[in-house]
Amino acid sequence: MNNLTIIKHPLIQHKLTYLRDKRTDHMQFRLLVKELTSFMLYEVMADYPLKEVEIETPLMPAKSQVLAREISLVLILRAGLGMLDGLLALVPEARVGHIGLYRNEETLEPVQYYAKLPKTIAETDVIVVDPMLATGGSAATAAEIVKKAGAKNIKFVCIVAAPEGVSKLTQSHPDVAIYAAALDVRLNDHGYILPGLGDAGDRLFGTK
Ligand code: PRP
Ligand code: URA
Repeated sequence: MNNLTIIKHPLIQHKLTYLRDKRTDHMQFRLLVKELTSFMLYEVMADYPLKEVEIETPLMPAKSQVLAREISLVLILRAGLGMLDGLLALVPEARVGHIGLYRNEETLEPVQYYAKLPKTIAETDVIVVDPMLATGGSAATAAEIVKKAGAKNIKFVCIVAAPEGVSKLTQSHPDVAIYAAALDVRLNDHGYILPGLGDAGDRLFGTK
């Protein structure tokens, strides 16, 4: 699973424990997803390329550095929405795309109902987010959609990954780097990650 990086920072692992806990209500869950996502993005961007610019401080001209490329954040609806605030806290200048997918409960195949991506996506680095990488069907479909729109440099950031999802995404898109806070054990018969954290969308939005 060469494409996979597990982000092991102690604060991320600490917060993940509360996220998994069934006693965590939707308000706390939402806050934890936001915080965790910020910490994760900080690590994901640790080797992001910089370019030199010339500025003037109040005292003199100076050479300094800024991010070399624009970033497009692409959220897989619904649960990816919960990660947006945590991402924008670090890269407020990013453009944001949305891809609407839900899993057919029987086949577990993703069904697309929406897509709106930044027009300039081909010239940007793309970070696709969804808290859960289960069978990998949703992430692989999202990667296909952003590639069709011209994206070349793509990262996928999730909170919990299943081995099945990592294999599927790696096989269908070997060029996509995957980041997760945890690689869990396996999927159950309904395609839920074990031990996982349950249904991320329902826990975020209090819909169950
Ligand atoms: C969940 C989750 C991912 C998908 C992961 O969404 O947020 O998008 O399942 O599963 P996969 O790797 O097997 O494709 P869901 O389909 O429950 O839709 P929702 O976010 O609208 O609730
Ligand atoms: N989607 C979720 O929200 N949770 C899982 O465990 C699998 C898919």
